[in-house]
Parts: sequence; structure tokens; C-alpha cells
Amino acid sequence: MQPNSVTLPFAFDAHVHLRRLRSVARLTAQHFSAAIVMPNLTPAIRSAEDVTEYSKWIMSATGKDYLPFTPLMTFKIYPDTAPETLKTLNEFFELSGRQIAVAGKVYPKGLTTNAEDGIEDYFALFPLFKKMEKLGLVLCLHGEKPGNAIEGLDRESAFLRTLFYIARSFPDLRIVMEHITTEAAVEAILQLPENVAATITAHHLILTHDDVGGDRMRPHNFCKPVAKRKSDRTALIEAAISGCPKFFFGSDSAPHPKDKKECSECCAGVFTAPIALPLLAEVFTKHNAINRLANFAGGFGQMFYDVAFAEKPVTLIQEPMTIPQEYDGVVPFLAGQQLSWKVQE
Ligand code: DOR
Ligand code: ZN
Repeated sequence: MQPNSVTLPFAFDAHVHLRRLRSVARLTAQHFSAAIVMPNLTPAIRSAEDVTEYSKWIMSATGKDYLPFTPLMTFKIYPDTAPETLKTLNEFFELSGRQIAVAGKVYPKGLTTNAEDGIEDYFALFPLFKKMEKLGLVLCLHGEKPGNAIEGLDRESAFLRTLFYIARSFPDLRIVMEHITTEAAVEAILQLPENVAATITAHHLILTHDDVGGDRMRPHNFCKPVAKRKSDRTALIEAAISGCPKFFFGSDSAPHPKDKKECSECCAGVFTAPIALPLLAEVFTKHNAINRLANFAGGFGQMFYDVAFAEKPVTLIQEPMTIPQEYDGVVPFLAGQQLSWKVQE
């Protein structure tokens, strides 16, 4: 018998999009003790000044109600981000002894939201990676191979060669392959040494590509990388419940206004922040692994990032909850459907 309630000492979302949306930021702060906040805003978060300003904005947006909450900041990496661009981040680090950004994020050119100015040539970034390795900054990779040669569903597995090459070239650089969607990626992460880990979203534990466009187009299930096959989903579930610390939770909760989702050429992104923990509890219970949830959605991410933050416990209880149709103009994943777990408020 599995318990019908579980208390996590803290929840850690290792990959979230808050944009400049106050209510969205509050929804993450409500359940999570800390989160790695993505930088692909317009304009993007790319300098020490941007990081500082955005982190202050988040703290003021989330307010006092849900403290403690620690946003852990990232900066977006550009083709022309020179190692010197990290100088200000480094200076701040030397002055304060504290990192204002914990990671840099690479987006592959043209493959997702605000990635038109993303990366095509990873090898040109090697001097930057060297500097990040030295500074102890984590490299977050959206792992899909850019360019015209590869078809959409194959972009993640085609990227793995690049991942191996980067990881072998920088053995002390911590690398997170974000929101993995394939069995091939799970196998690659297991083969690679300790400096390489992966985040897994809640929605990729639930969806396959048929849920995106198998019969009708379901824009609220559409994200990048797109959900793949059943066999891939099985591999992701096995990785998430395995107790292997290389796999940890990053929601990739990515809000877009309703009219930007329910239209032609809809934006990529699945909004899960307010229901992420109940979604995980459903999956983990179904696979008899609820006792592994605290590490997957907390400890393992914190350990890999090696970050300190104040913790707040969060209790999940097995009681029905209907997912709202909207949160302030943003339609959540599985809107209107029932879950059998909820967060005890
Ligand atoms: O679906 C996605 N949405 N994937 C990403 O990589 C970016 C994100 C967003 O920013 O909306
Ligand atoms: Zn993302």
C-alpha cells in the first residue's frame, strides 16, 4: 500500500519560465522553494545587470506570501557571447562571494520560443564553455540539433553527438540536458560521467506525440522538444522513478497567453507550474514510486546545482482536484480535467 499523502521537505524546479508575469511567478513560488529561471525573455537576460534586475523583479512579483522562495538565475548564451561577457558576472562573484547567475542557457537557432538568435555552431562557443567550467557555472542545453538537415522528431537524438563532444571536452563543466524526451537521451545521460545530468518535465511523463497532433491539433500539449513515442515515454518514466540522481525535475512550465496558443502557428510551451507536483504524484503513485518523489522533485536537482536556499515543506494529498480552465489568461495543461492528488494549501 502506498501512502495517500506525502510531504516533500522542499520542492525544486530546475527549469521554469516565469516571463514578466506576476501571477505566474507567484504560482511557482507558492509550491517551490527554489527554481532555475530561464532567460529567453524579450529582451533576453544576458548580462549581470539583466540578471540582477530580473531577480529583483521576481522577488517583488512573488512578494511575501510564499517565502521562502529563491529564484536561481540564468543568462542566455549568444553566438557572440564572449568569455569576457562573463567578466561582470565574475567580478560580482569575486566581490560578493555569491553567484548572481548559476547557469548559462544555449538555445538552438530557430527551434523554440525566442530562439531566432540562437546557436548553430556549438564549437565556436568552446572558449566560453572553458570559462564557465572555470567559474563553476552550469551549462544548460536545449538539446535539439539545429539546421535543415534533420527532421523535427530526430533533432534530439541527432544532438547527442554534440553533447558527448562537449562533455568529453570539458570534464569539469556541469551540463544539464534540458527536458529530455527520448530513450536515446536517457541512455546517453547514463553513459556520460557525473558532470552531465538531465531534467525531465511532468508533461513528458504523460504525453506522446499522438496527444499533440494524433487526431486533432492540441495546442496546449505542444511544446519543444515535442513529446515522442510510447517507448520514449516509458524510458523517461523509468529514469524519473529510478532513484538515479542524474535525472531530476525541471517543469519547463512555459506560459503563453491563450490567444498565442489557440491560433495558427501557436507558440511552443506547456503551462504546468500550479499543477506540476500533483501531476508528478499521479505518475509516481501509478508506478509505485511515491517514496522517490522527494529526491526527483527536490534533492537531486539541488545536489547537482550545489545551491543553498531556505526550504519550505510541501504536502501532497490524495484528494480529487479539478484543474482550472485558466490562470489569469493562461490555459494550463489538462485544463478542466481531474487529478487525484493536490497540494495541501
Ligand atoms: O516548449 C517550449 N517552450 N520549449 C522551450 O524550449 C521554450 C519554451 C518557452 O519559452 O515558451
Ligand atoms: Zn524551457
